[in-house]
Amino acid sequence: MISFRGAVGLVLVPSFLSLSLAQPYKTPKLQWRSCNATEVSSDVPLECSVIHVPLDYTDLKSNETLQLDLARVPAAVKPSKGSILFNFGGPGEVGRSELGRYPLAEELLALTGRQYDLISFDPRGTSGSKLPFNCFQTDYDAWTLLLGAGVANRSEVELGREWSYGKLYADACYKTQNKTGSLISTAFVARDMMQIVDHLQEDGLLRYWGFSYGTTLGATTAAMFPDKVERMILDGVQNPHDYYHSQGNFEEWTDSDAEFSAMFTGCVDNRENCALAQGNNKTGAQLEQEVWDLLETVKYHPLVAGTNLLDYNAIKSYLVQQLYGSGGWSAAATLLNLVLTGQMDAVATLFDANGQANITDPIPSLSTYQSLAGIYCGDNQVRTEKFEDFLPAVKKLYSTSKIIGDNAISAYSMCQQWKIVPKERYTGDFNVKTKSPVLFIGNTFDGLTPLKSAKNVSSTFEGSALLTAEGYGHSSLAAPSACTLRTTTAYWADGSLPPEGKVCKLDSPLYSNVTWLDVITSVYGNTTTRPKRDVPLHQGFRRSRAPLPIRL
Ligand SMILES: *[C@@H]1O[C@H](CO)[C@@H](O)[C@H](O)[C@H]1NC(C)=O
Ligand SMILES: *[C@@H]1O[C@H](CO)[C@@H](O)[C@H](O)[C@H]1NC(C)=O
Ligand SMILES: *[C@@H]1O[C@H](CO)[C@@H](O)[C@H](O)[C@H]1NC(C)=O
Ligand SMILES: *[C@@H]1O[C@H](CO)[C@@H](O)[C@H](O)[C@H]1NC(C)=O
Ligand SMILES: *[C@@H]1O[C@H](CO)[C@@H](O)[C@H](O)[C@H]1NC(C)=O
Ligand SMILES: *[C@@H]1O[C@H](CO)[C@@H](O)[C@H](O)[C@H]1NC(C)=O
Ligand SMILES: *[C@@H]1O[C@H](CO)[C@@H](O)[C@H](O)[C@H]1NC(C)=O
Ligand SMILES: *[C@@H]1O[C@H](CO)[C@@H](O)[C@H](O)[C@H]1NC(C)=O
Ligand SMILES: *[C@@H]1O[C@H](CO)[C@@H](O)[C@H](O)[C@H]1NC(C)=O
Repeated sequence: MISFRGAVGLVLVPSFLSLSLAQPYKTPKLQWRSCNATEVSSDVPLECSVIHVPLDYTDLKSNETLQLDLARVPAAVKPSKGSILFNFGGPGEVGRSELGRYPLAEELLALTGRQYDLISFDPRGTSGSKLPFNCFQTDYDAWTLLLGAGVANRSEVELGREWSYGKLYADACYKTQNKTGSLISTAFVARDMMQIVDHLQEDGLLRYWGFSYGTTLGATTAAMFPDKVERMILDGVQNPHDYYHSQGNFEEWTDSDAEFSAMFTGCVDNRENCALAQGNNKTGAQLEQEVWDLLETVKYHPLVAGTNLLDYNAIKSYLVQQLYGSGGWSAAATLLNLVLTGQMDAVATLFDANGQANITDPIPSLSTYQSLAGIYCGDNQVRTEKFEDFLPAVKKLYSTSKIIGDNAISAYSMCQQWKIVPKERYTGDFNVKTKSPVLFIGNTFDGLTPLKSAKNVSSTFEGSALLTAEGYGHSSLAAPSACTLRTTTAYWADGSLPPEGKVCKLDSPLYSNVTWLDVITSVYGNTTTRPKRDVPLHQGFRRSRAPLPIRL
């Protein structure tokens, strides 16, 4: 599929890979204190610490450092057996505030056996880090470009615009990120993680759990530092070969349409909990077709709900958002039912009640989008000069998935015309023998990272195991299962791996409202702390806007 392999950056000789080990920095033991709310917004109490790492690992003469801010959720059961690092994907997701989110922190404690300290940090290039990636001098410029991008199949003329916008964006970043834009690659973040491990002064070995793009970070770290891997879970696995070497992450969308269809078949199987299926005898396929028809209609005739414009961008982005997990499907079905039956006042009321029409701070999504571009586009090693050489990739994306195939094209257009060359890129393979084996987890219906990719990477990680989780949505966090919980806690306890072919069944039937917290209670008893806030039901349905940043 790769029609043109362009400017590949600095190819590092293997001896370089041991650099950070050969030259250990002085590593005073970390001091932890309570984070304050202005530093990190979180739902659960967090502890904070900082370390200083080399700003540019390739510049041996420089003594410039970068401050890495760390956050920790301490082990619930003492004494702690050590620390586990987390990355929540993107690339571009911040780590610290995500770790402090309820109920995620509670879930991660349970899934790790409650006896490890959980640590995360905002990787280089993300908005919470001391090296954020912003390409624009004014918010106006940023918004012009972000809003100019759309979901590619919204009109016949959109694709060409996407490609040109990609060039504008890439050029803007090249200009403004001239100095530090080359210092945020995944390979550098891998080195930062080894610095954290050194500062922890435990056993000098890495314990890590990565989700989504965090699996690419994990696989890269394992490939660079195989002897340092004591435990690693890669969960919701991205195909890193595609990530580094393809014009688009084609394999990523393998199961997207199947998961989307499950939203409707699940609906008719649970009619009593699904508004779309009430008062009719429609099949799942019929319900799904109505939504596809709606999407075609709003291309030409966007709907108005109060102060909201529901056009193709808005509705498609909302539907794509549903692929992250089935927990919101009941609410989504209610909303879709209102839209399909023309009850636009009720739609507007729903938006207002959920605060989605009141977004006053759009900057976070803007930052995430730029961070994603800065990290992913730099890591990716393919460049495409001409639009017509990009078209085969578009065709492949469209034929891979109808629901999401046109969603990430703005990002890929940018990356194919990217100009910033990272100081270090991971260019090696993924034939890896880690010190201790890695545990891979893939869901049967993960519309963002298919089981196929977990199998792909697992097959070249010697001694690794693959846990298949039956479930809908992105990573094990979307598929509550006591069996999964027992498997991961056993792994963290003593490294024990599930037998080959192990499948965990889902304990949260579709449209049931059973959450991870219910499953955790069933295993541990009722020890979970009370929620501090409710999670909004209608995440993602916003005013007409650019596509939600895709977490690759
Ligand atoms: C919170 O942390 C910031 C950054 O370290 C510091 O400037 C500020 O004074 C702290 N606020 C409080 C209330 O401790
Ligand atoms: C870093 O190096 C410069 C010159 O090479 C020197 O002037 C400066 O004091 C050094 N800074 C630190 C913190 O070591
Ligand atoms: C980056 O900045 C340096 C120094 O200011 C300059 O020499 C170089 O041409 C710039 N590169 C680009 C691509 O703007
Ligand atoms: C659904 O089908 C059943 C059995 O064929 C029928 O009794 C019922 O009236 C139908 N309901 C609707 C809303 O069409
Ligand atoms: C959103 O704004 C509307 C109008 O100002 C207000 O009535 C509503 O309460 C707000 N909703 C939330 C969740 O803040
Ligand atoms: C793109 O849009 C066309 C025309 O509206 C439609 O027929 C086609 O199915 C769409 N393809 C995808 C992948 O969205
Ligand atoms: C893994 O995926 C890459 C990219 O799609 C492919 O080239 C490679 O053959 C796959 N490897 C295995 C073992 O399936
Ligand atoms: C799930 O929660 C929603 C909203 O609280 C509620 O309307 C619905 O009845 C619940 N469904 C089940 C199966 O409990
Ligand atoms: C579990 O604990 C919470 C908070 O302490 C309490 O509100 C809830 O009723 C308990 N549930 C059961 C089943 O005991």
